[in-house]
Amino acid sequence: MRTRTLGTTGPRTSAIGLGCMGMSALYGEADRGESIATVHAALDAGITLLDTGDFYGMGHNELLVREALATRPGSRENALISVKFGALREAGGGWLGYDGRPEAVHNFLAYSLQRLGTDHVDVYRIARLDPAVPIEETVGAIAEEVEAGRVRHIGLSEVGAQTLRRAAAVAPISDLQIEYSLFSRGIEPEILPTARELGIGITAYGVLSRGLLSGHWSAQRPVAAGDFRAHSPRFSGENLQRNLSLVEALRTIADDKGATVAQIAIAWVLARGEDIVPLVGARRRDRLTEALGALEVTLDEGDLAAIERAVPHDAVAGTRYAADQMEHLDSEK
Ligand SMILES: NC(=O)c1ccc[n+]([C@@H]2O[C@H](COP(=O)([O-])OP(=O)(O)OC[C@H]3O[C@@H](n4cnc5c(N)ncnc54)[C@H](OP(=O)(O)O)[C@@H]3O)[C@@H](O)[C@H]2O)c1
Repeated sequence: MRTRTLGTTGPRTSAIGLGCMGMSALYGEADRGESIATVHAALDAGITLLDTGDFYGMGHNELLVREALATRPGSRENALISVKFGALREAGGGWLGYDGRPEAVHNFLAYSLQRLGTDHVDVYRIARLDPAVPIEETVGAIAEEVEAGRVRHIGLSEVGAQTLRRAAAVAPISDLQIEYSLFSRGIEPEILPTARELGIGITAYGVLSRGLLSGHWSAQRPVAAGDFRAHSPRFSGENLQRNLSLVEALRTIADDKGATVAQIAIAWVLARGEDIVPLVGARRRDRLTEALGALEVTLDEGDLAAIERAVPHDAVAGTRYAADQMEHLDSEK
């Protein structure tokens, strides 16, 4: 497995990480046995970075990660568990906002450590900036947990350049987790250069635009009401038609390269810099195998230019979140 380092102060990790969210939430039903088998297959393939959130299925995802690690003896020592916290949920699945107060940080972490069955989290980050709490206070509280040995590295999620600077002035930041793909290139003008200037790595999520850019999506695919994609502007109506036509343009390039669309999309993110680690949201072993195949795809200058022509940087139709969720993105302000 190829490796990369998260920023100048972060850990060495597999070049691709496994995002576990879809195993518990947001993408419809997932098969628990297959989810755990997928984590095991990832570990066996050399993936060391597992990304979760305490609010993914309200603890369900952390318990799943715990079970997967516990049933592969010795795997915890090699794995990096990246945990997001701060999102407030209600039992019906609703979202109630974010809490980045220092006392909330310490509280969330205490529960995560119990659920994960571990004495430390490798990277800990608030999922969204809490607009009521200065980032210095949230990061300061995580830094206290680093001091106490319960957190190894501090990350950030979906914040903009100014917040990155403020956070980095308080404590070393390993990585910014943020959406980045052929369809979501918003970090390129300011956020990515700022992260690079500050020595902060990128863990890129949504590299397949939540399946839209995988080559497996179709307008006929049914989407359950609770599925994120039922409310995503990119998956609806004319936007979907337009976006799927971009995927077909990419498929021509993929076919020429003897690769799949998903592999080209992941390889493109890998090619954007050694400081970027894509998180793939595979929740089945066949999807994982496909995603890992991206590591074998080499894109030369000609390939990159052809990809850029097929999917120009501003070609996607629709914002990456619905309007109410865009409001929570410091990175979009
Ligand atoms: N910081 C944040 O705000 C934030 C937000 C969202 C996600 N994340 C993290 O990032 C991780 C990845 O994000 P994501 O799930 O949205 O990303 P993604 O990889 O763009 O999309 C995952 C979806 O793509 C589909 N897919 C099709 N072919 C695939 C393949 N070969 N490999 C993987 N997936 C394939 C899967 O659908 P099927 O299984 O239905 O085929 C899956 O539901 C999440 O698990 C989570 O840990 C972070």
